Amino acid sequence: MQNRPPIVGQSPPRLDGMDKARGLARYTDDLQPEGCRHGFVVRSTVAHGRLKALRFDPAFDWSRVAVATARDIPGPNVLAMHDRSMPLLADDTVRYIGEPIAVIAAPTARLAREAAGWVRADIEPLPATTTLAACVERFLRGEEQPWLARQTVVKGDAEAALNDAPIVVEGVYEAGYQEQLYLEPQAMIAYPQPDGGWLFEGSLQCPYYVVNELHEALGVPASKMRVRQAAVGGAFGGKEEFPSMLAGYAAMGALACGKPVKIVYDRQQDIAFTTKRHPYWSRYRVGLERDGTIRAIVCDYLLNGGAYLTLSDVVMYRGILHAAMNYRCRHVFVDGRVAMTHTFPSGAFRGFGAPQAFWGWETHVDRMAEAAGMSPHAFRLKNALALGDTTPTGQVLRESVGSPAVLETALARADFDRTWRASSRGRAGERVWKGIGLSFFAHGAGFTGDGEARIASRVAIELDRLEDGRPGLIARVSSTEMGQGAHTALAQIVADAAACPLERVRCPLADTGFAPDSGPTVASRTTMIVGSNLHAAALSLCARLEAGAPFEEAAERLLAREGPLREERAFALPPDIHWDQSTFCGDAYPAYAWGCNIAEVEVDTLTFEIRVTRVTSCMDIGRVIHPVLAQGQVEGGLTQALGYAVMEALGIREGRFDADRLQTYIIPTTLDVPVFDVSFLEYPCDSLPPGAKGVGEIPMDGLAPAIGNALYAATGMRFHRIPIRPEDLYARWVETKGAGFP
Ligand code: MOS
Repeated sequence: MQNRPPIVGQSPPRLDGMDKARGLARYTDDLQPEGCRHGFVVRSTVAHGRLKALRFDPAFDWSRVAVATARDIPGPNVLAMHDRSMPLLADDTVRYIGEPIAVIAAPTARLAREAAGWVRADIEPLPATTTLAACVERFLRGEEQPWLARQTVVKGDAEAALNDAPIVVEGVYEAGYQEQLYLEPQAMIAYPQPDGGWLFEGSLQCPYYVVNELHEALGVPASKMRVRQAAVGGAFGGKEEFPSMLAGYAAMGALACGKPVKIVYDRQQDIAFTTKRHPYWSRYRVGLERDGTIRAIVCDYLLNGGAYLTLSDVVMYRGILHAAMNYRCRHVFVDGRVAMTHTFPSGAFRGFGAPQAFWGWETHVDRMAEAAGMSPHAFRLKNALALGDTTPTGQVLRESVGSPAVLETALARADFDRTWRASSRGRAGERVWKGIGLSFFAHGAGFTGDGEARIASRVAIELDRLEDGRPGLIARVSSTEMGQGAHTALAQIVADAAACPLERVRCPLADTGFAPDSGPTVASRTTMIVGSNLHAAALSLCARLEAGAPFEEAAERLLAREGPLREERAFALPPDIHWDQSTFCGDAYPAYAWGCNIAEVEVDTLTFEIRVTRVTSCMDIGRVIHPVLAQGQVEGGLTQALGYAVMEALGIREGRFDADRLQTYIIPTTLDVPVFDVSFLEYPCDSLPPGAKGVGEIPMDGLAPAIGNALYAATGMRFHRIPIRPEDLYARWVETKGAGFP
């Protein structure tokens, strides 16, 4: 092959960039299929009850619309997620406000919505639990309650080790819901096919999830389901499992009218009736030696799963696997539970249980340092995991460990020690309190536990003529481009493996009609796992090109001789990775990305307004494929985490989310964005070339505790619940100091 500098590690323009900048990319709502009808979902207004009857008010002319209810579902009434408990449309029982009970299809979206207003649901209310707080109270009283999932992580004998520890630090930590707030709301089109099958086109992360979770209810084999992504305007996990539900509602509308049906949520529906980040409660009891060595960690980790399990078990697994990470400790016990409430099912959101875990844990670690009489950074440096150490599941860190390097680098770049010593600590007479805080964290890259081994995801590479008639490579993956730049990073990896110019590589939008099941676009796995699999497939295919000649010449000759070629490959984990799902011991992830966040804050002592002025973020994400995109991921994730920490408040009032618009659900604007110092250290995952470890989620994991710790340094007040808003600061000030202002 010709000598050329690798494109991995460079920052070429995004493959999808120009179409998006010019307004040519077609999002789901831009698609106007012939004869398309519009769907509207009729929902329960009761959190828990018996659905006794649905009545269609004769004051409305029902001949103008088509209606589907649970009775019209061709197959079993189930959306087949992890435990198959969730119906496609509620049948005899409703379990949350907003649960779909019927779908209306009409020539216009306005008429569909109007018709829904004439449906009368006769629901006999049953007792409902609608908050995690109620579940925590029962848990603390030792009462029985239904858990959607339970799992423990056990290492050594933590309770015994805690008993005679010289220092014990206890604490309870909480976080509320968080809304993904992708720019483009949920949108889906269902097209009934002449052969009885289905085509779906929508805004989604996981095309094969829709195939696998919905085909039974629709009464067709998976082979008669085709799903493709339109351009996707952001997802953040919010389009992981939810689109399977929306596809089901659209399909029911399409069954009723026999035409394609499109459902596009407006922002209010999207906030009110889609999945959110799980509310969280944890309790830590940690034993320390007098010198600050961590002797034992005991943690209860609770999530509010909502009315149905969906994928909350796996969210909780990731949570408990991160809830005692990063530090050496021989005795660990983490008890994870998913509470059942009569609320919208909680779902995937960037970080997937880890941001909650680190909010509690990295706040607690700061308190542990203080209890041991150490600075927060000295304590972390003393205990940080390093190459050769063992995680809470007994995983030995054998390669690719950017700890403690990321911690040391971030501390130096932020001049942490000096700034920390100068923090205000709530001193009287200062107009502005200043403080600095840090967090240290890791993110398991790829699916949790045996996930990658079980799904054996597949990719294909084709050598063929591209749209200009010249030879090139086409990467066929079901991994979606949702704005994160994945298809550009994957094309870079293919280009290097094949020694082919990037301009000759295509990575089309995900379409199950052409692409094998590469697994879902989740878990920070796409660049690492799918990229590595594409790398191997491209190497293998291009081994058939004659050596020495430029790519196009060699490809021309091979095409002339053999015609188009396709290489399909299943992913296999490196053989030295072992995980025992029954004991939750072993290699929980093939590798970890490592991160340190340092936040600098200012608090106005007159208004208690909080400004995060600067964030220093150093991360080891393995090989950095595209530095500009990676930095974008980090800055975007940090901004989302900033909102989680000090702005985004979402609770439940009378069974409903208490905010459903951007007027009441407050997120950061550009004016709130701090100065970022983003840096990367590369400790590549050599067993999965080219060695990326994923950057999608880790930027969301650690900023909330860094900000909470900085607020402690600034104000002297420790907060155990996020978001921490000016009114929370002031309430605590009044509570501890009586009244008045500093
Ligand atoms: Mo995700 S939160 O693994 O889509």
